[in-house]
Amino acid sequence: MESSYQLRIPGPTPIPERVRRAMDAPMINHRGPEFKALLKELEDGLRWAFDTTHDLLIYPASGSGGMESAVANLVSPGERVLAITIGAFGDRFADLAQAFGADVVRYALPWGEAADPEDLDAILAKEDDVHTVLITHNETSTGVLNPLQQLASVVKQRGRLLVVDGVSSIGSVELPVDDWGVDVAITASQKGWMVPPGVTMLSVSPAAWERQAQARGPRFYFDWTRARKLQAEGMTFTTPAVSLLFGLREALLAMREEGLANVYRRHQRIAGAFRAAARALHLGLLASPDVASPTVTAVNLPPALQGARARELLRTWRERYRLVLASGQGPLKDRIFRIGHLGAVYEEDVTTAVTALEAGLREHGLEVSEGAALSAARRALEAPEAAVPR
Ligand SMILES: Cc1ncc(COP(=O)(O)O)c(C=O)c1O
Repeated sequence: MESSYQLRIPGPTPIPERVRRAMDAPMINHRGPEFKALLKELEDGLRWAFDTTHDLLIYPASGSGGMESAVANLVSPGERVLAITIGAFGDRFADLAQAFGADVVRYALPWGEAADPEDLDAILAKEDDVHTVLITHNETSTGVLNPLQQLASVVKQRGRLLVVDGVSSIGSVELPVDDWGVDVAITASQKGWMVPPGVTMLSVSPAAWERQAQARGPRFYFDWTRARKLQAEGMTFTTPAVSLLFGLREALLAMREEGLANVYRRHQRIAGAFRAAARALHLGLLASPDVASPTVTAVNLPPALQGARARELLRTWRERYRLVLASGQGPLKDRIFRIGHLGAVYEEDVTTAVTALEAGLREHGLEVSEGAALSAARRALEAPEAAVPR
């Protein structure tokens, strides 16, 4: 049955019919030849999507599990680590490293801003004993995309290991792992991959393997050495999320058919259309255009619609217009709403969502000229490539 809701949250994302059908298949032996072939196909497909030659590890876990695996394998207790945080998920990475006994230096920015490569360089110049840098590529809580290529270049010039939370970016936003010098890149199935939650995927560079061999952090479930050895034999340590992996295989096929460059362009175009609609509704955007995320848009609510009214507005969208949006997190709770537009989201979904957005706002007393948001969104969708509004 098709969902009667438009799920426009930044994950879990809608599952295409072909992916759902692929998951509805008889179970197989996870120590048998079919699973071995499946795992190989997934590793190859993910290497293609990550644009990497590095090892690809796959675990039954959510994205936070992938992040924890990186800390457990790379960071020794007492070691100084730099965590760049621009929102809730950056904070999570920093807290995680702290929980594993790292001495965490935080380069924290106000929510809504991106990290600055020059500031990062100045920090690393002072912090000689920081060997590892943790960073969020796309901060889902604020809809900000960090300038990862420039930040990565600073980290590499300073000779440090770079660990990237690409949970809500990889597969939807360009992140050529090898080109940009990313040592560990982490993502999760329920985002741009169009698969239900439950699988985390990460790439590990040769430099990260060297570090891993020296690191003394406690690890068991997420021991990368064992995972690599078993994956080379065509299996996994624990029971894998077999049905989700059937889905992932189909989703990767769909991505190959569309072409990665087209997938990235579609995300950019749709994000541009949502931003144009918000502007036409006279709503402010949390992120400035140069760092606005292609996968999630954070929209400021006018003062009259903040607090309890924000929750009522989300309920109106959900109950009357069948549009499910995400609320703000942390300090932005009840002050913003977020539109998720990653994975299986297409031009026609923008039209439906924007129509509902406008209707709900009008119902809550916002004076908006009828159809203005929809026209703005359509213009943005039709704009030639170079003119996609940021
Ligand atoms: C940027 C980012 N990092 C990490 C996570 C955590 O992933 P999970 O909820 O799959 O553990 C999320 C999930 O929303 C995310 O968006």
